[in-house]
Amino acid sequence: RDLETILNIDEIEEVATKQISRKAWAYYYSASDDLASKSFNNRVYRQILLRPRIFVDCTQCDTSTSLLGHDVGLPIYVSPAAMARLAHPDGEHGIAQACEQYGAMQLISQNASMTPEQIVADAKPGQVFGWQLYVQNERAKSEAMLERLKKLPAIKFICLTLDAPVPGKREEDERSKNIASNLPVPSAVQGGGSTSTTSEDSKTGPPKNMGMGQSLFWGTAADLTWKTTLPWLAKHTDLPIVLKGLQTHEDAYLASLHAPQVKGIILSNHGGRALDTAPPAVHTLLEIRKYCPEVLDRIEVWVDGGIKRGTDVVKALCLGAKGVGIGRPALFGLGAGGKEGVARVLGILKAETETCMRLLGVGRIDELGMHHINTRAVERD
Ligand code: FNR
Repeated sequence: RDLETILNIDEIEEVATKQISRKAWAYYYSASDDLASKSFNNRVYRQILLRPRIFVDCTQCDTSTSLLGHDVGLPIYVSPAAMARLAHPDGEHGIAQACEQYGAMQLISQNASMTPEQIVADAKPGQVFGWQLYVQNERAKSEAMLERLKKLPAIKFICLTLDAPVPGKREEDERSKNIASNLPVPSAVQGGGSTSTTSEDSKTGPPKNMGMGQSLFWGTAADLTWKTTLPWLAKHTDLPIVLKGLQTHEDAYLASLHAPQVKGIILSNHGGRALDTAPPAVHTLLEIRKYCPEVLDRIEVWVDGGIKRGTDVVKALCLGAKGVGIGRPALFGLGAGGKEGVARVLGILKAETETCMRLLGVGRIDELGMHHINTRAVERD
């Protein structure tokens, strides 16, 4: 289908669903248990109202901003999500090309289906990547990966994911576990650096017939702590750290005490794929505003989960988020049309974000604030 005829993110998902394999769809679509967090992630944005102002000159509108001190064309970034080549051979490299077109940042999953070297191979000057780390039981493997990243200057920070020490119970993924597929081997395995593997004959790999989510988590450490993990990381990388998967104001506050090593946090429930009925990022952001607003000054706060409209992006920014991540929309964009499909997703979200800002009476990202939204319905929940 001509990508120009696809008008929104839901339509992208519909088109991709028809084009990708059943197994890929099940892996991408799935979330834990009853999918309550997944559906609430998006619904919560519908409950926040916008407060447009009149008599504001909105002929100019600029979506550029900065993330961790790097200039970006959009506050929207691509969240780390495993196995992009299940959707399309362009894979994570295709996502990188689409991001380059829009000046958007890309976070690469530890379980990417291409190597980090392949993904950043054509990075343009100024293009920014983060590397998402799942610390492995065998720490030496994670250390080897951190060493390997030192040769890739386009990778500017480490994103340490903490909301899934064990995988959630993803039933759709379980149901499709026996469907055969020619799985690409996760990136980090090619050339060492990870125990995650889908290769059937590996002695250390996961047992056969596991759901894809379960098998990708094989070898991931469940024993990370504030006390031990950050000092370990400091020994093995000089890159700034972004902690991903915070879901309470208490943890946001603790993270802020670790600045400047920790430069940012991502409020996320893993797209509803970890603990079901965990809160959407909007709730956590509102908690932070209420109990420890100083966190927003000490470190950057990013959010992800359920972003489908430019209005969702703008609302997250009004609440104090600096960056807004998209997981499934990028994967489904890839499934709908390879790298051009991802570019279409970013193009739709950029245009919707601009329209929303203009109709609000805002020309620049840093003008957005709480005075542009009404969150009463969310706070009543
Ligand atoms: C993810 N996510 C994820 N997060 C992470 O830190 N490492 C990973 O490898 C993955 N893998 C992954 C695979 C798939 C198929 C999905 C859908 C998600 C979570 C991801 O980074 C992000 O938090 C959510 O996807 C955001 O929600 P939306 O945008 O998908 O609603």
